[in-house]
Amino acid sequence: MSAGPAERIVLVGFMGAGKSTVGPLLARRLGWEFVDLDQEIEAEAGRPVSEIFAREGEAGFRARERAAAERVSARPRLVVAAGGGAFAAEETRAALCRGALTVWLRCDLEVLLSRIPRDGSRPLAGSRATITALFRGREPSYALADVTVDTTRASPDEAARAIAEAAGGRGEGGGTTPG
Ligand code: S3P
Repeated sequence: MSAGPAERIVLVGFMGAGKSTVGPLLARRLGWEFVDLDQEIEAEAGRPVSEIFAREGEAGFRARERAAAERVSARPRLVVAAGGGAFAAEETRAALCRGALTVWLRCDLEVLLSRIPRDGSRPLAGSRATITALFRGREPSYALADVTVDTTRASPDEAARAIAEAAGGRGEGGGTTPG
């Protein structure tokens, strides 16, 4: 993270860890804006993530994700929920880290497996074995985040409060009144 107060808080972690649920709660606490990186990619592409994967492959999606990470890294007072693969890609991670406090929403694999919908909306959510391998492969990248908050048993609101406290303890400047 940067030396001064963070301009953004970036939530990383595996699919189902709660990034998109915790993010808006955290943003409300801080009085900041919230951006879901997948939604930002979809808005720019004009099609859902599943269709981007189908038409452009994973490489096409990752290029769009990197560009979206660059765009949001220019915006202050922002909470960003990054997709599960974003922090595992070096250049995307570098963009997300710039000026930000990064937070790994860690969660036990069994709980993640029970939370991830298999409705086709997440093209990489395949078999149990596929998800397990992806999870193990990505853990070292997630561990590079500044702060880790466990969401296995915490409610989204508890997780948001823990992150706001961690941000406050690191000199985060922007109005941390809950509400
Ligand atoms: C992905 C996770 C998804 C989405 C895309 C790829 C991944 O985001 O970016 O399906 O590689 O783990 P969520 O983590 O928000 O589900």
